Amino acid sequence: MDITLPAFTPIEESLFLTLCGRALDYRSPHSILSDMMADEIVRKLDYDCDKFRLSASPIINIALRAKKLDEVALRFVASHPDAVALDLGAGLDTRMLRIAPPPTVDWYDIDFPEVITARRQLIPDRTNAHGVGADLTGPNWLDAIPTDRPAVIVADGLLAFLTQEDMISLLNRLTSHFPSGEVAFNGYSRFAIWAAKRYHGTQSVADLIKSPGFDDPREPERWNPSLRLVEEILLTREPEVAQFPPVLRLITRLSAYSAALSRRGTTVLHYRF
Ligand SMILES: C[S@@+](CC[C@H](N)C(=O)[O-])C[C@H]1O[C@@H](n2cnc3c(N)ncnc32)[C@H](O)[C@@H]1O
Repeated sequence: MDITLPAFTPIEESLFLTLCGRALDYRSPHSILSDMMADEIVRKLDYDCDKFRLSASPIINIALRAKKLDEVALRFVASHPDAVALDLGAGLDTRMLRIAPPPTVDWYDIDFPEVITARRQLIPDRTNAHGVGADLTGPNWLDAIPTDRPAVIVADGLLAFLTQEDMISLLNRLTSHFPSGEVAFNGYSRFAIWAAKRYHGTQSVADLIKSPGFDDPREPERWNPSLRLVEEILLTREPEVAQFPPVLRLITRLSAYSAALSRRGTTVLHYRF
């Protein structure tokens, strides 16, 4: 099948880095996420993931943080079958297919309109799956989403592209829109932002990274008093480290002794409101 994708802006193109991370994880002998659909999409597009020159460490990080966000979303929809789920900056991720929520859950993938058009071409449709094409920093996209149901909101790889003001205002709009819910995202420490601006895999978006990053997982509680930290997940301390290749496993286990060092890598931050 010939697929012609809409022309993507550099910020939209960033979705290929995470998509490739998950596809390459799927192809590895000890896959963390087993995201077959990511691999299928890459193959359908004949996309050249080699251009990112991703080594084992970023591939595993991308897959593991996605897995932790899946777990938060899955736990929530399992105990709230009336929930709505939002994936902010969804790119070509197929989280809904991975976690298969109960059919009573409405799932919203939100990203720029070109990305939502591409999703419609590439990702099999599901009842109760909705694509919302919008700039998340804009005011009106939430109008399409019910206000009277508990919500689980995840964002994977999005927040580096938002200024701190954009992020605070987005969190405020989300927590005022829903009666209750949970929000989880991969955190970017100040060091992680510094590194992302220099890492070869993210060079194409280095100038688009706007977040200064933050090191204290409780900082969002100060931005928005309705948020309560549920958990700071340090990936270095997760059980999947046992599946890492030997050298990376050893380095990761050593870093795990220090929370400060672990925060330099990838964290997943999980809040309730
Ligand atoms: C690194 S990609 C991650 C995509 C996806 N979450 C994943 O894990 O594969 C970042 C995504 O955020 C989207 N994005 C960035 N800023 C956005 C904004 N202001 N409004 C909507 N989407 C945005 C981009 O278009 C892109 O798809």
